[in-house]
Amino acid sequence: MTAPGLAIRDATPADLPAVRSLLVETWHATYDGLYGWRRVAELTNAWHSPEALAAQLGRDGGAFLVALLGEEIVATASARREPDGTAFLTRLYVLPVRQGQGIGRTLLQVALACFPEAPVVRLEVESRNEAAIAFYERMGFFLQRQARLGGRDDQPDTLVMAKRLVIA
Ligand SMILES: CC(C)(COP(=O)(O)OP(=O)(O)OC[C@H]1O[C@@H](n2cnc3c(N)ncnc32)[C@H](O)[C@@H]1OP(=O)(O)O)[C@@H](O)C(=O)NCCC(=O)NCCS
Repeated sequence: MTAPGLAIRDATPADLPAVRSLLVETWHATYDGLYGWRRVAELTNAWHSPEALAAQLGRDGGAFLVALLGEEIVATASARREPDGTAFLTRLYVLPVRQGQGIGRTLLQVALACFPEAPVVRLEVESRNEAAIAFYERMGFFLQRQARLGGRDDQPDTLVMAKRLVIA
C-alpha cells in the first residue's frame, strides 16, 4: 500500500520547525511508555534542537528526507554513508495519526535508493520498540546484534538490524 498523494523530497531549512515538532510528537508517542515523559523530553530537545537538525542538512554522503501529504510534513527519514560504503539509517519517523498507511515503507525505499552502491544497510532500534522491530522485519531486515546506542553505556539498549541491498 502506498499512501495516495504522498510526496517525498529533501528537507530544506524552512522544513525544520515542522520536522522538529513531528519528531517531538512521535518520540513522545513512541518512547514515553519506555522512558517516561520527562526523559523523552530531555532527549528529544537535545537531539532535535533547531541547531542539531540544521547541522544535519546537506551533510556529505547523507540523506535527510521529508514526506508530505499536501502541505503537511507527515514523516521524516535520515541516512548516511559509512566509511566502509554501507548505509546507515539514522532516523525514520511517521506521525502517529499517519502510521500504518504505507508511508514508512515508501519513505524507507526512497531513503535506501539514495545509496545505490551500498551493499548493506544497518540501523539501530530500541530493543523494546516491538512495533518498529516488526516493521523492519517486514521490510527484510534481520537482527544482527545487540548494542548500546552509539556504543555508550548511558544510552538505551538497542538492536542492530541489517538488510542486504546488493546481491554479490
Ligand atoms: C515504524 C514506522 C516507521 C513504520 O511506518 P508505517 O508507515 O507505520 O508502516 P507502513 O504502513 O509503511 O507498514 C509497512 C509494512 O510493515 C508492517 N508493519 C508496520 N507496523 C507494524 C507492526 N507494528 N507490526 C507488524 N507489522 C507492521 C505493515 O503491516 C506493512 O506490511 P504489509 O503492507 O506488507 O502488510 C512508523 O510506524 C513509526 O514512525 N513508528 C514510531 C516511530 C518509530 O518507532 N520509528 C522507528 C525508530 S527506529
